[in-house]
Amino acid sequence: MLTPTIVWDEAGGGIALLDQTLLPGRSEVVLVRSTSELVDAIARLAVRGAPALGVAGALGVVLALDEAAREGWDPARLDAAITRVRTARPTAVNLAWGVDHVLSLRAQGRDAVLAAALRLAAADEAANRELSRLGADWLLDRIDRPRLRLLTHCNAGALATSAWGTALGVIRELHQRGRVEFVYADETRPLLQGARLTAYELAGEGIPHAVQVDGAAAATILGGRVDAAVVGADRIAANGDVANKIGTLGVALACHAAGIPFLVAAPWSTVDLATASGEQIAIEERDGAEVTAYGAVAVVPDGTPGHNPAFDVTPARWVSAIATERGVLEPAAGDSPSAHA
Ligand code: MRU
Repeated sequence: MLTPTIVWDEAGGGIALLDQTLLPGRSEVVLVRSTSELVDAIARLAVRGAPALGVAGALGVVLALDEAAREGWDPARLDAAITRVRTARPTAVNLAWGVDHVLSLRAQGRDAVLAAALRLAAADEAANRELSRLGADWLLDRIDRPRLRLLTHCNAGALATSAWGTALGVIRELHQRGRVEFVYADETRPLLQGARLTAYELAGEGIPHAVQVDGAAAATILGGRVDAAVVGADRIAANGDVANKIGTLGVALACHAAGIPFLVAAPWSTVDLATASGEQIAIEERDGAEVTAYGAVAVVPDGTPGHNPAFDVTPARWVSAIATERGVLEPAAGDSPSAHA
């Protein structure tokens, strides 16, 4: 049984986060009691994954209200703290969405904000289970094999959400139906969410899998080793362009070349109808030092900088389908989220 990713700890007065930087070696929960601790936890990816960031944003508003009451902050200081949480990472729309969602209840008081944040977390799990069911049905309708061979990139599992997962939720659902043969998990350089987190979840479920370097994905796909790729999303533009972990675009291109489905699994909270296309999505640039070292060991000559975009955008024309809790859309066939608002 996985330790919950993110929960409100009323007795402790804060957010209990499973520190994902320590997995798979250590399963440690940290209690975050201030907005600056939360911003730090988000920036170092102790909590990560778009839907989990949505819950972090919503609970972050409660944290800010409690902190303001405790420390006697004026309204401007409170607003600035909430803005810092809202903008702690730029690409996943869920973070700002989670903050905005509960902020609308601020006039009703702290307990109303907390109740809304807890409802948001519960709704995330329900959405993930439903989109996983729909995504699994969509794949099984199109792939004529008793058990599917799948590829996934990064971690879009229970660890990236309040529970269950999105892309890994689809895989979990297929596994529960006895329909998974094997999963290739891309390791996801430089922070290894695939190797450390996806493999941890797949092993926990007893799903046959292997971790491969990101550079192996194209050959695995073109070599006929998988029937489909399933990934999550950080932001989906109104036209169906999809921002997700760096390397996702290459997976989509390889699937297109191989003629196999490239399925994105994401709750509707990841759809950003205010963003017309992927060109307007801000891509987080992380410290180049994450690329130029492997763990603590430098892997480049002194003075060589790292280029470290954390996400890329896959144009809608290469996205076979997006499974949401509202239904499955097919952007490559001209179906866009804006048509389902
Ligand atoms: O940098 P991360 O680990 O937050 O990136 C996570 C991803 O790219 C996931 O695929 C995405 O957030 C979807 S999680 C259900």
